[in-house]
Amino acid sequence: MTDLPTTNGTAHGSDPIRFAYWVPNVSGGLVISNIEQRTSWDFDYNIKLAQIAENAGFDYALSQIRFTAGYGADNQHEPVIFSTALLQNTERLNLIVAVLPGPWHPAVLAKQVATLDHLSKGRVSVNIVSGWFSGEFRAIGEPWLDHDERYLRSAEFIQAIKGIWTEDNFTFHGRYYYFDNYTLKPKPLQKPHPTIFQGGSSRAARDNASRHSDVYFTNGNTVEGIKAQIDDIQSKARAHGHKVRIGVNAFVIARDTEGEAREVLAEIIAKANPEAVKGFADEVVNAGKASPEREGNWAKSTFEDLVQYNDGFRTNLIGTPEQIAERIVELKRIGVDIILSGFLHFQEEVEYFGRRVLPLVRELEAQQLEARTTVGVS
Ligand SMILES: Cc1cc2nc3c(=O)[nH]c(=O)nc-3n(C[C@H](O)[C@H](O)[C@H](O)COP(=O)(O)O)c2cc1C
Repeated sequence: MTDLPTTNGTAHGSDPIRFAYWVPNVSGGLVISNIEQRTSWDFDYNIKLAQIAENAGFDYALSQIRFTAGYGADNQHEPVIFSTALLQNTERLNLIVAVLPGPWHPAVLAKQVATLDHLSKGRVSVNIVSGWFSGEFRAIGEPWLDHDERYLRSAEFIQAIKGIWTEDNFTFHGRYYYFDNYTLKPKPLQKPHPTIFQGGSSRAARDNASRHSDVYFTNGNTVEGIKAQIDDIQSKARAHGHKVRIGVNAFVIARDTEGEAREVLAEIIAKANPEAVKGFADEVVNAGKASPEREGNWAKSTFEDLVQYNDGFRTNLIGTPEQIAERIVELKRIGVDIILSGFLHFQEEVEYFGRRVLPLVRELEAQQLEARTTVGVS
């Protein structure tokens, strides 16, 4: 099992940073650009990718949820079923399935994931997505709630799945969900329960992380931007007696020279599809900008940032293996536990990352640990 030490409070600095990748279960790759992408959204490609990734040292794979096309993502496979296929063809990888409260009821998700946890021998997690794409909700006849109300529903959703997974006769009377003496059997294999991820950047997203989620996923950002979020979440989490880990998105462009990596980035942006990027920009105003503080995901994103769906260029894992490994260790130093990575040509670049970048990260981590032990810091 690849579960994070989220719930047992293992000393943070000594844990190796973990790696996740975005499952391309949606067509068009992870950049809104007409650059060539040797990435496919079909099953065969994804099964091979998952096998490459677990052999390369990746712990997690995140399957995305989309009900309708958004800006280049014309085809979208359903994440729970897609992940089931990947789990049946891998041995160690943990599949994080993304779901939207609203279309999913917590009782349905809790039951699906309990079964999947048994099928996969404890290798499934969930990502609770609060939603930003109003057009998608309208298209399937789901009510579109205001920003903070969506997070209130997500908070209840998380409390509900946790309760169902860990208690018999679960009873909960919320604004959105109601349970009365409900007992799920079988319960999931993983104890206390499968890991619960939840994403965003807004105050509401951070508050949910500081109370309810096991891992907070956020968009790409600068080291300073990520640190500000982590400090806010961790100080609130301490006040609530809650432990939460942090995952950050990054679009990785690792090449033998920095020049090559920068050229790839320049080509992605030069070949961006301006109409699709603009369409995406018009839609993401329903995310962070719609929050009372007018901050959060995409609130400050530029055109270039939006060419990658989750601001992944901003994390700057672009350059040589050495430069990237150093930046990853810097992210770990400010409290990041998981790097969620996207690539242009997934299969070949995941393999390269495992061969060239990951060993350097482990070396740097070992050096840091040794330095700390020498000066007596645990
Ligand atoms: C790492 C990550 C993964 C996400 N995956 C999905 C997804 O699969 N489907 C989706 O509709 N939204 C996804 N989201 C969107 C968020 O759940 C959330 O709705 C959005 O980030 C709004 O954040 P805000 O409250 O900071 O504005 C993801 C966000 C992050 C950071």
